[in-house]
Amino acid sequence: MMKIKIAPSILSADFSRLDREVKRVERAGADLLHLDVMDGHFVPNITIGPVVVKYIRKVTHLPLDVHLMIENPQRYLDSFISAGSDMITVHIETVSPALIKKMSRKLRLKKVKFGISLNPDTSLEKIRPVLKYADFVLVMSVFPGFGGQEFIPGSLGKIRKLRCLFKGDIAVDGGVNDKTAGLLISAGANILASGSYIFASKNTKQAIERIRNAKQR
Ligand code: DX5
Ligand code: ZN
Repeated sequence: MMKIKIAPSILSADFSRLDREVKRVERAGADLLHLDVMDGHFVPNITIGPVVVKYIRKVTHLPLDVHLMIENPQRYLDSFISAGSDMITVHIETVSPALIKKMSRKLRLKKVKFGISLNPDTSLEKIRPVLKYADFVLVMSVFPGFGGQEFIPGSLGKIRKLRCLFKGDIAVDGGVNDKTAGLLISAGANILASGSYIFASKNTKQAIERIRNAKQR
């Protein structure tokens, strides 16, 4: 079985004390730190850019998993690489297959893992031809833009089908908590991004372990 990795999403952190929030999840056993970049175009919300990623890089040893929910991600790739990203995900809805190929080459040279994400209403057929360029696939289990939304159960079938086509890591993002995690792991996901569930918890370590060890169903 693939190692389960938990990636707290700082979208639900208290941004007025971001360094402490990052250290809180690092101490609690997070495997990655999920950073949500939104541009107000591809999604109806605006969050952080490379400058914040650069400063987060200084306060943690966790690998930075940067989720680009932006149009024209190719324009910003270099900035996010130099800011210290370890993993960069772009949305299939925002790029052509030719651009994916180009970005994958650049990221491989820079030793940054490349992820391709798809929205709940995007079919697997759309990413099938470019799966060979991806180190991992990020399946959205909510429509991107906000934390704290309800999990869309249809994403389970998508993960199951993807697991038959793709041998790399499968990440999932949106509505991941102690109740949905077991279903997602059984379906074949092995990287679980989770924002509101982890950051709202009083006992962060326990919240992370509850996702990691969720009973598979
Ligand atoms: C949503 C973001 C997610 C978000 C998940 O657009 O990509 O990473 O933080 O939040 P929760 O876990 O609260 O659904
Ligand atoms: Zn995300």
